[in-house]
Amino acid sequence: MPYSSDNPLRDPQDRRLPRIAGPCVLVIFGVTGDLSRKKLMPAVYDLANRGMLPPGFGLVGFARRDWKNQDFAQVVHDAVKENARTPFREEVWEQLLEGIRFVPGTFDSDESFSKLKETITELDEARGTGGNHAFYLSIPPSSFELVVSQLKKHDLTKREEGGWNRVVIEKPFGHDLESAQELNDVVSSLFEPHEVFRIDHYLGKETVQNMLALRFANQMFEPIWNNHYVSHVQITMAEDIGIGGRAGYYDGIGAARDVIQNHLLQLLALTAMEEPTSFEASQLRTEKQKVLAAAHVPGDLSETTARGQYCAGWQGAEEVKGYLDADGVDSSSTTETYAAIRVDVDNRRWAGVPFYLRAAKRMPRRVTEVALSFKRAPHLPFTATDTEELGTNALVMRIQPDEGVTLRFGAKVPGTQMEIREVSMDFAYGESFTESSPEAYERLILDVMLGDAPLFPQQQEVELSWKILDPVLEHWAALDEQPQPYESGTWGPQSAVDMLARDGFAWRRP
Ligand code: BG6
Repeated sequence: MPYSSDNPLRDPQDRRLPRIAGPCVLVIFGVTGDLSRKKLMPAVYDLANRGMLPPGFGLVGFARRDWKNQDFAQVVHDAVKENARTPFREEVWEQLLEGIRFVPGTFDSDESFSKLKETITELDEARGTGGNHAFYLSIPPSSFELVVSQLKKHDLTKREEGGWNRVVIEKPFGHDLESAQELNDVVSSLFEPHEVFRIDHYLGKETVQNMLALRFANQMFEPIWNNHYVSHVQITMAEDIGIGGRAGYYDGIGAARDVIQNHLLQLLALTAMEEPTSFEASQLRTEKQKVLAAAHVPGDLSETTARGQYCAGWQGAEEVKGYLDADGVDSSSTTETYAAIRVDVDNRRWAGVPFYLRAAKRMPRRVTEVALSFKRAPHLPFTATDTEELGTNALVMRIQPDEGVTLRFGAKVPGTQMEIREVSMDFAYGESFTESSPEAYERLILDVMLGDAPLFPQQQEVELSWKILDPVLEHWAALDEQPQPYESGTWGPQSAVDMLARDGFAWRRP
């Protein structure tokens, strides 16, 4: 029975064909969380709707709720209706529904894990899943160890003949190098390295993968992609939202651990790495690891890092509360909601080119981008007045929300005299392609089912990223003071402005 009316199995030329998942069960721990409702469940439906899931698919939710299968199915249904990317189709939903199960329980309950085992066995038979199971831990890191040990204890990590077991772990993987290593010891004692999928959802974004296409499918960028031409790089992840209801997770974690350690350092690695010999996981990881191993935050950390915490202000037309007044936040919290660091990459290509990374909540707008700023031409055969409005040449990879690439350069203003002004040339995904981009989680969940590893950071990368960040976190902790306040809806604290000004640069205002 085809899964959707435009079933790609009908068309041997369909390029999705090798990318359709085989039969399996996806077990999600933490199904009552935000991530599950907003991203994971909708992604499962979107995959089904695109014909990427097989009929032999089962979805099991595990959480501390007194729910029956139908209650959970209703939750999935509502999450899909509210957050799915593709239109709701009754026939797709009906197919999915047949494989939906719920197991109530706590992570320390043996009874619940026995029930989970029973449920999976029943689904294996009912749906013909071939004993293939993916366990998605969308839960606080403090519970990872308990859950993986329970999986082991209840024989859920044992590979059935011909089947596979995979574990999917949401970031943050640890809260520093040491804890990441400890966590890895636990996970790797139960799962083989190729069975562990560490999620960094930025790698699932189309625009992030496009960084590889832009750099390595074209001839014209690579020759200038180095310290002869690039003066500095800015990687920005600005969000206009506050922490919402996520104080329990965010307070004590902060912007650097939340997104710089993973998303932003991964963006840096993709920007700075050498060309991999292929896009196979091992080749890609080798190149990313080389960059991360060569990267560090240089100099006096009071000058090469900055942190801030948002206070009350205006977000568009809405008046918003400060971080310390958010529900669940300790009123003396020193958690940063703005973090900026300078990273130097000590290799021949990048020596002398600072990479500035910043991540923050409650910025004037939501934007993630990687911007390469180029050096001035060595000689300008114009008068100083002619080039007054010539800025620096820049190449901006716009990760979101306005996905595309911008090239900024000087052009002659029409008229009788030579006057140069900065202009932009834009590529916009929305204009060049008719297909809309799949959500990052669609891609990543599918890759887990296919056992496709290139978009998942490996332990080595996680550890190298903590090595870069740990000295900064220790430095901030030793200061034992409040991060500099910044008004909500502004571009962050003065210390961050000063940090770049000392090097003769200014933050971009995207
Ligand atoms: C998550 C962070 O990894 O990424 C959140 O934990 C952040 O704090 C989110 O809001 C942003 O993701 P995206 O895809 O909307 O940029």
